Amino acid sequence: MQNNTTNNFPDISYQEWNTELYDSKHSFVSNLALDLLELLHPQIGEKILDLGCGTGHLTYKITTRGAKVIGIDNAPIMIEEAHRYYPDIKFLVGDGINFELKETFDAVFSNAALHWIKEPKKVIHNIWRVLKPGGRFVTEFGGKGNIKTIINGIYEALDAAGYGRNKQLNPWYFPSVGEYANLLESEGFLLTFASLVDRPTKLEDGEYGLGNWIRMFASCFFVGIPEKKQNIIIDDIKDRLRPHLYKKGKWIADYKRIRIVAYKINE
Ligand code: BEZ
Repeated sequence: MQNNTTNNFPDISYQEWNTELYDSKHSFVSNLALDLLELLHPQIGEKILDLGCGTGHLTYKITTRGAKVIGIDNAPIMIEEAHRYYPDIKFLVGDGINFELKETFDAVFSNAALHWIKEPKKVIHNIWRVLKPGGRFVTEFGGKGNIKTIINGIYEALDAAGYGRNKQLNPWYFPSVGEYANLLESEGFLLTFASLVDRPTKLEDGEYGLGNWIRMFASCFFVGIPEKKQNIIIDDIKDRLRPHLYKKGKWIADYKRIRIVAYKINE
């Protein structure tokens, strides 16, 4: 996904996606958002944009309510997989900052994607641009304090291994409700719902859950580190976090979710 850090690391897209691992071990990403669909409340015939659609499972769920949905994701490999699963749905490669669409939408929906983009103003502006007057923006993503324990563990292990410089590769944006509400209102949105909730999330695969999660979602921190060394650092992260996040044979990630409903209302 998007990475906009300015540093001396090579200019590459750091987040690598493995769609098989994403779907088999991290299906909670879309499963947990099923009640977000209730907040979206798609209507028959509505045009909806699913921003950061991943492998398209939620996009498909929205279509089953009778809406016409386009899914966008900036990872070509995710879009390829989404096409394979759901050939009748339109999926496009594009990111929250640069996507260009001529059509407008009744709603923009986004689950677990916007914390990957560190330029929220640009994303919000783009969402405003593609919404019809009166259209709604319904989103959930990581909010202030999200995975704080995990991030601390990663930082401590990087420091201990002599790779403290890699901490600057943190790719995530986790705003408070107040901060995000301000950005939305500055664009002109009317907020009708905003919340920040703890969402402790069980990682699949018992003992291996946290290692899988780190390899899937936090690989960007390991740019330039030899693979053997990466494995040692990941083991160290696990040792540091075990007393806090490992309970009865399961890793529990300290997720916190921000949820927003906002309308494009010109007053
Ligand atoms: C999240 O869904 O909160 C999340 C997932 C991967 C990395 C960071 C946050």
